[in-house]
Amino acid sequence: MKVLFVCLGNICRSPLAEAVFKHKIQKLNLQHRISADSCGTGNYHIGDQPDPRTIKIASKNGVEIRHEARQLSAADLSTFDHLFAMDQNNLKGILRLPGADRHAHKIKRMREFDPQGPGDVPDPYYGTLQDFQYVYDMLDRTLDAFINSEVKL
Ligand code: 4NP
Repeated sequence: MKVLFVCLGNICRSPLAEAVFKHKIQKLNLQHRISADSCGTGNYHIGDQPDPRTIKIASKNGVEIRHEARQLSAADLSTFDHLFAMDQNNLKGILRLPGADRHAHKIKRMREFDPQGPGDVPDPYYGTLQDFQYVYDMLDRTLDAFINSEVKL
């Protein structure tokens, strides 16, 4: 199973989601059958490392993060089994890709799996470190719920 996390810049939310997800998958010893990546709908940060606050929050929570930002492309639709949009705008960005209607069943908003959702994973870019921790906690419980319902089969 291949999972793609999608946000706008691919330096805050989606690389964090990817790192937290991989950490959980590794702990469950499922890395031989589950892989993950992340990307952004925008092109502003292509090639960039995650935001320093993303790295700080990951490390504070014991999660290793390693990613270079890249932009979403139409090929991602066939490569991945699940494409998770962090918010409604990112969802629209995925749905605008050529051929997206054929893959619509794979495309969801991340917080559809949040026990406290649905809604958007808020963009913490203009926020504080506390906002990054808020996003971390949201992703942490949402990814547990996704793993419990779709991955541990
Ligand atoms: P992300 O956050 O989509 O969670 O990576 C953002 C990062 C950068 C920008 C916006 C959101 N930006 O406008 O540069």
